[in-house]
Amino acid sequence: MAAPADVVKKVEAGFEKLQKADKCSSLLKKHLTKEVLDACKDKKTKLGATLQDVIQSGVANLDSGVGVYAPDAEAYTLFAPLFNPLIQEYHNGFAPDAKQPAKDLGEDKVAELVNLDPEGAFINSTRIRCGRSLQGYPFNPCLTLHNYIEMEGKVKMILTELKDEELAGTYYPLKGMTKDVQNALIKDHFLFKEGDRFLKEANACRFWPNGRGIYHNKAKTFLVWVNEEDHLRIISMQNGGDVGAVLARLIKGVKAIEEKAPFARDERLGYLTFCPTNLGTTVRASVHIKLPKISAKPDFKEVCDGLKLQIRGIHGEHSDSAGGVYDISNKARLGLTEYEAVKQMYDGIKKLIELEKAAA
Ligand code: ARG
Repeated sequence: MAAPADVVKKVEAGFEKLQKADKCSSLLKKHLTKEVLDACKDKKTKLGATLQDVIQSGVANLDSGVGVYAPDAEAYTLFAPLFNPLIQEYHNGFAPDAKQPAKDLGEDKVAELVNLDPEGAFINSTRIRCGRSLQGYPFNPCLTLHNYIEMEGKVKMILTELKDEELAGTYYPLKGMTKDVQNALIKDHFLFKEGDRFLKEANACRFWPNGRGIYHNKAKTFLVWVNEEDHLRIISMQNGGDVGAVLARLIKGVKAIEEKAPFARDERLGYLTFCPTNLGTTVRASVHIKLPKISAKPDFKEVCDGLKLQIRGIHGEHSDSAGGVYDISNKARLGLTEYEAVKQMYDGIKKLIELEKAAA
């Protein structure tokens, strides 16, 4: 199937814009070469998605780190000339012929993850999340209003029927939620923010707030986001540095949901997500941590890079640090197992705490 002529024009204009932007350092700009552009610009997925859907967020937001999204599962293969090298660079060299290993959440190894900060001197909180896509539905830009409402209904039913006491909770649809409740949930890091310009420009916020919502248990230690960036984000979090407890709860939740909902998984790319940064395990394991001494040093980012860690501010992605507290997580999610992704964060944070203790 061929992309319409006006779409090809838009894609070419986007390419020109990226070429002219000398401050732009996104992976999109780097990997959308003239050759790749020509190989992909005329293509269209069975659901009608084009290269324009893939690149529009990164073209609109020149400060993107990555800049691309997959409108549907087929996009990852149809536009492989763009996705493959970008995925390879982001996920520690995951080559075009590499394969995501079999799932290993680490249920038999959680006990090895002892509290990273038993005295509570550094770590405010620990969080592990994964993303899941429901089989049979494309990603945000291709979903209809009907899809959103149907998916929300299915997920709500599964979640509100969870029997385990630790997981049992309530689903709160975003539609009809008061601003006060919404803002309080965002401030405490429980709920996704609204109006993310990267998602908006990717066409991922259509029909908002329809079909979107949040589920959580009473203690707000087990949460599920519905239809934000991904169909599902399954989250386990709590105060302090007990990574093992956080992982154990996540595993319990994922398994309970998985029994009821078939998820989209690809032989090569593992669990499929809207953003290529989340493919594979989809696991982001993070802590909110105070490291006043080492974070003030000029090589802090380099040290974290070396430990395969990514630094964010504490008010979510693209936010700055506040009060010397950072959100630090594993960076790669593809080409390693779920347990290894968590372990990368665990080992890296252990090392950072040692460095902080030893710093002058
Ligand atoms: N598209 C955004 C960027 O390139 C976000 C990339 C990763 N984050 C995410 N939430 N998928 O900066």
